[in-house]
Amino acid sequence: MKSLKSIKNLKNKKVLVRVDFNVPVGDDGIVDDKEDWRMKAALPTIEYLLEKKAKVILMTHLGRPEASQKFIKSKIHKVKNQKYSLRPVAERLEELLNRKIKFVNDCVGDKVKKVANEIKTGEIVMLENLRFYKEEKENNKEFAKELAGLADVYINNAFSVSHRKHASVVAVTKFLPSYAGLLLEKEVKILSKAINNPEKPVIIIIGGAKIKTKIPVIKYLSNKFDNILAGGVVANVILKAKGVDIKNSLLDDININEVKKISFKDNKLHIPVDAVVCNSKNKVVLSAIGKIKNNKILDIGPETAKLYSKIISDSKTIIWNGPMGLFEKEEFSSGTKAVAKAVVKSEGYVIIGGGDTIAAVDKFGDLKKINYICTGGGAMLEFLAGKELPGLEALK
Ligand code: 3PG
Repeated sequence: MKSLKSIKNLKNKKVLVRVDFNVPVGDDGIVDDKEDWRMKAALPTIEYLLEKKAKVILMTHLGRPEASQKFIKSKIHKVKNQKYSLRPVAERLEELLNRKIKFVNDCVGDKVKKVANEIKTGEIVMLENLRFYKEEKENNKEFAKELAGLADVYINNAFSVSHRKHASVVAVTKFLPSYAGLLLEKEVKILSKAINNPEKPVIIIIGGAKIKTKIPVIKYLSNKFDNILAGGVVANVILKAKGVDIKNSLLDDININEVKKISFKDNKLHIPVDAVVCNSKNKVVLSAIGKIKNNKILDIGPETAKLYSKIISDSKTIIWNGPMGLFEKEEFSSGTKAVAKAVVKSEGYVIIGGGDTIAAVDKFGDLKKINYICTGGGAMLEFLAGKELPGLEALK
């Protein structure tokens, strides 16, 4: 992977930067200053380009809009769904950088070409949502060529979308000299070190739902890490696979027989010994695992929280992705709160990722005390599962 820093001369060069500004936009059409951490993380790359007197063209997706528009060469396209427009994001970026951003309400077509041709040194242009075109997700070559035609150099600064084989991440690299942005480089470096050369003991705390993306992480890291602490739906699935009756607890969309085939290393994999459960009358009770009566597990119990906190405090490298329970509700928040507090207090190197985990540390701990907040949720999990990310492969 070639680094942006290896480019000798950026002066007057048009640089197309794939960022991930997929941030929540409120109903008021404003990006909240608590929700813009992904944008802030990308700023050093943009500032570096400006310092080197480049002409910056930013492109990103926002959400998952219905991509009804079909890209037809040389036609000007109108944005149909304002809910997914990047205009509010461009406005927030203006505030963050304290400079004017030229927003174009499309990402391909004659109008965009004209803006790109007229861009001046030190200017920033931001294109409209790439996902208004279905060709983006299809990794369409023609679409990628049109994007590439706007610039002289391509930078991928979006680790968090590098697990997607999309035109602005993969196909575009076929048409321009392509480099890794500073943020992408940093994320790969930090996660690679945590997997391959961490200070030990090294642990991962893995919870939440989206189990299909997490079981491969447990499988891959069980040979490398000292401890794996499971919570949330991840723990439910493992308990079920081990033959524990978890009654009505959530299982997510996974084939338990597949999980049963995995040979978990029991001395490394920690599962809850007790739980906070909710019965059919919505009564919240504590229960030992294995003695759950017609209830639903919604948090790890105090014994488990104590055990997990001790393992966290004894570790030198800690990765956390996914809450321990339904922490948005006060009655099921104790487990996630205990883990957040232990993680924040830890003297080890702490990496967190995933929107819910970041929200939990923000709520119960202090994000400033975290050594590294990974911008990718899904991408982080695929990387931790040892998978090759198409966006990173394309830069090789
Ligand atoms: C994310 O939020 O994880 C990235 O922006 C990727 O978004 P996606 O899951 O919609 O591809």
